[in-house]
Amino acid sequence: MLSIFKRKKKQNKSNSNRYFRLKIKAVKKETDDANTIIFENPESPFHYKPGQFLTLVLPIKGEEVRRSYSLCSSPFIDESPAITVKRVESGIVSNYINDHMKVGDNFEVMEAAGHFVPSLEKEQKKDYILFAAGSGITPLMSIIKSILEIEQESNITLVYQNRNEQSIIFKEDLNKIASDYQGRFKHINVLSQPTESWEGYTGRIDSAMANIILMGEDGSNLGTADYYLCGPTGFMQTVLETLIEFEVPENHIYKESFYTGEPKHKINSKAKSSDAAYDVKIMLDGAEYSVTVPSNKTILEAALDQDIDMPFSCQSGLCTACRGKLLQGHVDMEDDEGLSEEEIKEGYILNCVSKPTGPGVKIEIC
Ligand SMILES: Cc1cc2nc3c(=O)[nH]c(=O)nc-3n(C[C@H](O)[C@H](O)[C@H](O)COP(=O)(O)OP(=O)(O)OC[C@H]3O[C@@H](n4cnc5c(N)ncnc54)[C@H](O)[C@@H]3O)c2cc1C
Ligand code: FES
Repeated sequence: MLSIFKRKKKQNKSNSNRYFRLKIKAVKKETDDANTIIFENPESPFHYKPGQFLTLVLPIKGEEVRRSYSLCSSPFIDESPAITVKRVESGIVSNYINDHMKVGDNFEVMEAAGHFVPSLEKEQKKDYILFAAGSGITPLMSIIKSILEIEQESNITLVYQNRNEQSIIFKEDLNKIASDYQGRFKHINVLSQPTESWEGYTGRIDSAMANIILMGEDGSNLGTADYYLCGPTGFMQTVLETLIEFEVPENHIYKESFYTGEPKHKINSKAKSSDAAYDVKIMLDGAEYSVTVPSNKTILEAALDQDIDMPFSCQSGLCTACRGKLLQGHVDMEDDEGLSEEEIKEGYILNCVSKPTGPGVKIEIC
């Protein structure tokens, strides 16, 4: 697994304004397998929006590894940026963070990115219905705190799936928010393996349960509410299908995926190039690079092979860290899950899953 993220030479990021060094100010245990890492504010201005994520660049066992983590803090009320990391079984980075990271450690992160961001307006009055499972609560926590602060007349319902009472991340914070914002925020916990004393919803959120929960809501707002979903693929698919049954317009539904399977493309793939290779021009941080992309590599892979300091994280077309705008030519993009329809129309592509289909391709990283 480590070799996927191996890069040929150490690349110099010092000239890039995409990277920050963040120092850990505090570590807070949320559950047995999740910790929140709170950062000191860096000296250079560090901006983020609710729902965005950071890409951590960590040296682990002599290799550089990258992973994305959503900010759980709100840029509007929290003093410091924070992420919450839940262990994944045998996961390299999530276990490293939970086992080894301590106050005073510092490491590189890429600037905040992502489009799972509500457009908040002071005068706006909306209903928001949020569905989370496990660590999927992290971007939603940032979104919840931000909506309650900025849109004083908007209301939020959070439906949150976990295994048991002990595995509810942010349990106390959510209870406090519910008591501070009575009438504007409510959370419905659904537990798959609760203790006997549990009186709430029990089981997994399948289509039947999502139906029951939504039927319990004020039906008049279901069609006009905005929906934010974050959790495992199966969970999101179930909720999505239920919302479509409820005739919720698709442009009211926003999704963030953390994981869809193994990375589709592996950095430094040993596969042999077959025939055509095309030169691609890449504009990055004010410089222009010419990259020869063989048919067995993506644009990202070929650029990294030439030691160009391309931004990237998941290599799966999911996180959008490698996003660029296609200025000229054509590319074949294998997966566009991370991009909105609008971005695709505007010509954005994901370099980690794109290959040129002919000569004359020019991309601006933005
Ligand atoms: C935009 C974005 C935001 C994210 N935000 C968060 C966050 O706020 N908190 C958080 O804890 N995680 C978050 N993630 C997931 C995170 O980036 C890592 O994928 C996760 O921590 C696993 O990394 P790892 O190195 O521990 O596991 P790896 O070593 O990469 O993988 C170990 C094994 O677990 C599988 N696997 C990898 N990731 C997952 C997963 N997420 N779920 C189930 N199986 C997996 C792999 O296939 C492999 O078999 C986010 C991901 C994305 C794309
Ligand atoms: S690196 Fe994540 S979408 Fe390309």
